[in-house]
Amino acid sequence: MSTITVQAHQMLERILSLEIVRVTERAAVSAARLRGRGNEKQADQAAVDAMRRELNKLPIHGTVVIGEGERDEAPMLFIGEEVGRKTGPKVDIAVDPLEGTTLCAKNMPGAIATMAMAEGGTLLNAPDVYMDKIAIGPGYTKGVVDLDATPEQNIRNLAKAKGVAPAEITALIMDRPRHADLIAAVRKTGASVALITDGDVAGVIHTTDPDNTGIDIYLGIGGAPEGVLAASALRCIGGQMQCRLVLDTEEKRERALKMGVKDPRKKYEIEDMVRGDCLFAATGVTTGSMLKGVRFRNDVIETETVVMRSVTGTVRWIRAEHRQLEKFHLD
Ligand code: FBP
Repeated sequence: MSTITVQAHQMLERILSLEIVRVTERAAVSAARLRGRGNEKQADQAAVDAMRRELNKLPIHGTVVIGEGERDEAPMLFIGEEVGRKTGPKVDIAVDPLEGTTLCAKNMPGAIATMAMAEGGTLLNAPDVYMDKIAIGPGYTKGVVDLDATPEQNIRNLAKAKGVAPAEITALIMDRPRHADLIAAVRKTGASVALITDGDVAGVIHTTDPDNTGIDIYLGIGGAPEGVLAASALRCIGGQMQCRLVLDTEEKRERALKMGVKDPRKKYEIEDMVRGDCLFAATGVTTGSMLKGVRFRNDVIETETVVMRSVTGTVRWIRAEHRQLEKFHLD
């Protein structure tokens, strides 16, 4: 690429870091209209439609690599779908238009609309399977925790590195029967366990700001798409994360192989999941510990978004007031 082209791409990437805010804002507003209606699918579809519309306005040649499912199962934003005006840089797109569909349907805290964008060919193409994950925030020596160590070892090593007793460590884990042994092992060290019912993208991000969130480490099995999205955020703000796809059937191994996963037991570091520069954005749908949810007032819709850029590590918190409501009424 010539110097001018590189500069133009860098400038475009800076601009895109604000453009993707519009994408998650619109998805969040559309989903928020359906908060508490008990209909996960409808809320998800509304977020997908809005996100797709906004993505298609961007000056990018985008390919969805983390989407709403694999081609035949999802009507929109499926893996492999091309988005954007097809005029700008080639980029990989990871989307979760409504992360926490149940949280939104039940109007519970923590539903978000989220996406990441990275240079073309640099995001892990993960199938929609489970993923085993461990994450901590920035400031620790690399390798202080490890996906292959026991939960006891990880808590003790982290506590030592932080200069505190294990009892002062808090681990965030999804409240699932599959985590019963993990939760017991963590508690045995004296550490505290904070349980969440859904939403492990925000759960992983919580580890990057333990002073405010009270969370030191994320442990356990969640969705692989959510894992790649969380890795994109950590690529921007720092922290450590290791993951492994849970490919426990031949069918899943074959699906993964088709997507380029040759080693089904591979332990992924952040740099393996997000191999280049990336942008990450999330807008609150329902108010949670990371973001405020959408607020509908008479003539204004308020949204709160966090947007991050790995090139500079800048994290922006954007509280927006939207006044051209007719635009949003189209959603
Ligand atoms: P959805 O929005 O697709 O329902 O995902 C919510 C979520 O809680 C994710 O944050 C998490 O990674 C995954 O579900 C865990 O899956 P499961 O609910 O099957 O344990």
